[in-house]
Amino acid sequence: MNSNSEVYYPNKNVLEKVYLKDYDSLYKSSLNDVEGFWSQAACELEWFKAWDRVLEWNYPYARWFVNGKCNIVHNALDRHASSWRRNKVAVYWEGEPGEKEVLTYGQLYRQVNKLSNALKKLGVHKGDFVTIYMPILPELIISMLACAKIGAVHNVIYYGYSGRVLRERLIETSSKVLITSNAAYYGGTLTPVSGIIPYAIQCPSLKYVLIKKRIDLPVFPGLPKTSKEFPKFVYWEEVVNNAPDVSECEPMDSSDPLFIIYTSGTAGKPKGIIHSHGGYMVGAYLTTKLVFDIKDDDVYWCTASLGWITGHTYVVYGPLLNGGTILIYEGDLGYPIQTRWAKLIDEYRVTIFYTIPTNIRSFMLAERELENYSLDSLRLLATVGEPIDPSAWKWFYEKVGKGRCPLLDTWWQTETGIILITNFPSMPLKPGSAGKPFPTIKAAILSPTGEILKENEKGMLAIGGPWPGMMDTVYQDPRKYIDYWDIVEGWYITGDIASVDKDGYFWIKGRSDDVIKVAGYRIGTAEIERAVLSHPAVLDAAAIGKPSSSGSDIIKVFVVLREGWVLDDLLIEEIKRRVIEDVGQIAAPSEVVALTSLPKTRSGKILRRLLRQLELGKGVIELEGQY
Ligand code: PRX
Repeated sequence: MNSNSEVYYPNKNVLEKVYLKDYDSLYKSSLNDVEGFWSQAACELEWFKAWDRVLEWNYPYARWFVNGKCNIVHNALDRHASSWRRNKVAVYWEGEPGEKEVLTYGQLYRQVNKLSNALKKLGVHKGDFVTIYMPILPELIISMLACAKIGAVHNVIYYGYSGRVLRERLIETSSKVLITSNAAYYGGTLTPVSGIIPYAIQCPSLKYVLIKKRIDLPVFPGLPKTSKEFPKFVYWEEVVNNAPDVSECEPMDSSDPLFIIYTSGTAGKPKGIIHSHGGYMVGAYLTTKLVFDIKDDDVYWCTASLGWITGHTYVVYGPLLNGGTILIYEGDLGYPIQTRWAKLIDEYRVTIFYTIPTNIRSFMLAERELENYSLDSLRLLATVGEPIDPSAWKWFYEKVGKGRCPLLDTWWQTETGIILITNFPSMPLKPGSAGKPFPTIKAAILSPTGEILKENEKGMLAIGGPWPGMMDTVYQDPRKYIDYWDIVEGWYITGDIASVDKDGYFWIKGRSDDVIKVAGYRIGTAEIERAVLSHPAVLDAAAIGKPSSSGSDIIKVFVVLREGWVLDDLLIEEIKRRVIEDVGQIAAPSEVVALTSLPKTRSGKILRRLLRQLELGKGVIELEGQY
């Protein structure tokens, strides 16, 4: 039983130094004064004009810090650049081939100002969308902050997505500018981005493509010659380097949009989740402070890609709001040696390390080589994105944290914006549990009819909102926002299945819907199926997440073929290629199988859950061929 699992108690050293020493009493008192709790956090930040009310809760819509005027960049950057932190390192960057760059808060401030001015010159105004499609470079952080500084809404697209996805999101947001780079290193390969250009220029609103040269080579060898006036291709080295380095933050209303980030849902196209300046700023600030316990002498490394919500909240905004020093790394954590990640920890004296269970399982494969690293700078470890199995937890705790670092599993979502259920360094830890709700957060396990379930019963994980940092809306589809709140009156339904034990610890089991989590990435079945169905051989298709021996799900696709086709190796490769080209490498199916028909409800909906059950050996189905 979960509640009987082992418990790891914090050691005295940790307890003496952490910000949050007594979770239970803070949690209890926070419930009695939710607004007081969050307004105290907001008072630790600077506002151009104070809010009239902390919260306006008009179910299911929340406005936090109503009529407050602020700018997240003022708090994440400008105020540090004008304080003693001016010469403190804000960002360490290392490229996969080994190049290094260091930006102090003062230097980052000037770079952000230059780009802010350059963007204004390119015609970007408050409220405009700017799309960013870049590998992990300092310029990606500079771009996010420069957009936010002038009140533009950034739309970061994960660099592994295809040109088709990029085009769709450029068009949907009517982006005026695309910021990109000419190449990226990953896993020893230099990938040019010229392949995306033909897609990008199909966006009619696009006026400029701003290119940062990752390598000093011809920028886009195959650049198409357009007779149109736009988009124009301009280079960072010209328009940004020569721009003035003074720029004021645009005063933003608390509820003005800060960024859009796309994420997959149960059905249909990915949703554009909108987060705004005020509440998100306060939520990102306080969760980073209390969960990661970030202090001025820390070097904080979160391995997430910046195109995902973890990259937004816990690579960029949360740590910088706290005046932290962050490390970002461009490439593969296991290249050119499997222990590149450990080498980086030792080299940069990383103290806080936040990653996903899939990475931990790959670290486990090179345990012996770990002897070459001291890892003695580490003081706190954390994970996110998928359930962590107790064996991987214990390995990470013992072999990387050497039994001295608290290992915190943290639970949250793109939509929640910030961590909602988590462990804290001062809390007794249960391997495999995501811990307890953040102060003020009400979390419960509900039955399908909305009753609160008893301990250890599995059900829908639900949050009794609101909280600062929650999404404002779903872009151009406000109905989808309501959907989260419409299932059980009064509750935000997360889409996860979980249970809670007698001590109040939450145990996340996985998704209840058709969202697939692969190596922490969130992918919708609809996106994969659409790509598979575009192959002329395929009549019908269903994608599922299949549990694998590695502990993470893999993508398995079932196809029904048109007459005359046979699922041989060539066809399997073609189907996989379709998905990679249409969505991106992250969505590549590991297995493709042919069936004579797909199990469906009477109304024609595919029973993916049944297919999943069959994969777990809970049924029999007639297979035509397997790869
Ligand atoms: O299923 C849960 C899983 O990731 C989903 C959210 O994915 P995304 O919006 O991409 O955000 C990921 C990073 C915050 C959740 O619905 N998930 C997230 N954290 C955990 C988790 N599953 C188990 N344990 C976690 N700690």
